[in-house]
Amino acid sequence: RLSRSLSISSLSGLPLWEEESLPVQDLLLFEVSWEVTNKVGGIYTVIQTKAKITVDEWGENYIMMGPYYEHNFKTQVEKCEPPNQAIKAAMDSLNNNGSQVLKTWLLVMSDYKVYGTEHAVIIGPGVGSIKFNIDREAGQRQIYHRYCLERAAVRCAHVFTTVSQITAVEANHMLQRQPDVITPNGLNVRKFSAMHEFQNLHSMNKAKIQEFVRGHFYGHLDFDLEKTLFFFIAGRYEFSNKGADLFLESLSRLNYLLRVHKSDVTVVSLKGQAVRKQLWDTAQFVKEKFGKRLYESLLRGEIPDMSKILDRDDFTIMKRAIYATQRHSLPPVTTHNMLDDSTDPILSNIRRMDIVFHPEFLSSTSPLLPMDYEEFVRGCHLGVFPSYYEPWGYTPGECTVMGIPSITTNLSGFGCFMEEHVSEPSEYGIYIVDRRFRSADESCNQLTQFMFSFCQQSRRPRIIQRNRTERLSDLLDWRYLGRFYMYARHLALSRSFPSEFKMDHLNIAQVSPTQGFRYPRPSSVPPSPSASLHSTPHHSDEEDDDTYDEEEEAERDRQNIKAPFTLG
Ligand code: G6P
Repeated sequence: RLSRSLSISSLSGLPLWEEESLPVQDLLLFEVSWEVTNKVGGIYTVIQTKAKITVDEWGENYIMMGPYYEHNFKTQVEKCEPPNQAIKAAMDSLNNNGSQVLKTWLLVMSDYKVYGTEHAVIIGPGVGSIKFNIDREAGQRQIYHRYCLERAAVRCAHVFTTVSQITAVEANHMLQRQPDVITPNGLNVRKFSAMHEFQNLHSMNKAKIQEFVRGHFYGHLDFDLEKTLFFFIAGRYEFSNKGADLFLESLSRLNYLLRVHKSDVTVVSLKGQAVRKQLWDTAQFVKEKFGKRLYESLLRGEIPDMSKILDRDDFTIMKRAIYATQRHSLPPVTTHNMLDDSTDPILSNIRRMDIVFHPEFLSSTSPLLPMDYEEFVRGCHLGVFPSYYEPWGYTPGECTVMGIPSITTNLSGFGCFMEEHVSEPSEYGIYIVDRRFRSADESCNQLTQFMFSFCQQSRRPRIIQRNRTERLSDLLDWRYLGRFYMYARHLALSRSFPSEFKMDHLNIAQVSPTQGFRYPRPSSVPPSPSASLHSTPHHSDEEDDDTYDEEEEAERDRQNIKAPFTLG
């Protein structure tokens, strides 16, 4: 075979791909994961959303491998013949050896990742200060075997990748290997034909939330809904990991500030309740299985033994779901949910200050708040995700592509990524709380300050900020971020077959997404010292800022940025 040379030119540190592509017809790419068609956590989202760009490059030679679950098999994939002889031979051989391989091959990929699905438990106390004996910790938590397997995989891999800079720090501590490439998680960004469609959607969906709030406060609506801001937190209920503790404490400090400053703004804080959704899904899943077995038994003319109709797996998933929901009753949340506990000083404060914490299960069929998650996010003003541990964290990214500002932290992959790639993230509606180098109290004050400054903005600056937020979408699009996976695969090939796959300009540091390119400050934000001191949006009492033309700014910034991601 001819020697192939991969040409990678680097623009300000980001890899640009030249037309020459891999000879994918001669290669096979396998992506092996427990979450192929099987939603356990966020990795499912990564695999599913990344599929398209990978198939675009690899076609039928991209193969995903995952566990066989009949239900997923039926609903998510199509049965087909093996795409080529090599795979057919491998499958035949496995089948002849007694393994059952279903002829279902859809997509693919292969890379080596450290994910946090147990890491959260171990790392919880703070990535920056890991001083424990990792072997002993893994043993005590009875995950020593998994840890060994992971460590061996990482050590043996030609190329080791992690999802973010913060996970790279973790991997370095836990597995003593620096990743070769950081492969951030992307999204499939939906582009509207009308430029400001996302603003209209905000307005429409906000109206639905307002309607809900009107109903909730029926008879007691003594605040102006036009001056009411909707903040929300979302995610699995991991009270400290997801930063719900910090959020609640900051809300009470925000109350205090709003009162002292005699602000007429009301903040309504909502939570997109993912856990209840899990419970619902589990119930549906078990119900279906139960029904099927009951039906089969009746077909045979038998009344089934009810105590045996569900198996151990069913009980395990139900227990797991209950376990997750029970976390609601941990004391701190309960405290803040007991709105009618008149003796609790914090809660009486919260009531006096017009803050409501209303856990709400989101579903478009709910009679109370008939919205799905996306509509809900669009209708809010600010997403608040002050996580303590988050290898990546999709929630703030989802806000960004919908043009909704959000608060994240420098202990989340997303926060680190934005810190690296955007000169002044807060100007773009991305607020990064420092949870890595500050005390909990200082982080809490910083979070409070972000929220307070946000409350001081009037409508016009909010609209402008949403435009800027949405402009970061390209940075999060798989069409751009997919390149880091491409690069990792090229690198693996060049290391395994150096004479056949050469890489020009092979310099890992140069193409690391953590170096180089940054989104500049929006061109309309003055580069004065006072502006650069701002870590919060500028506020103005004026509803209209005549000097600002958003189309003009967007165009100017496009020119300035000369983004390496010309996405077409
Ligand atoms: C969008 C709409 C505007 C509306 C605004 C409300 O930008 O296009 O018509 O006034 O939302 O913004 P706010 O931040 O007050 O919810």
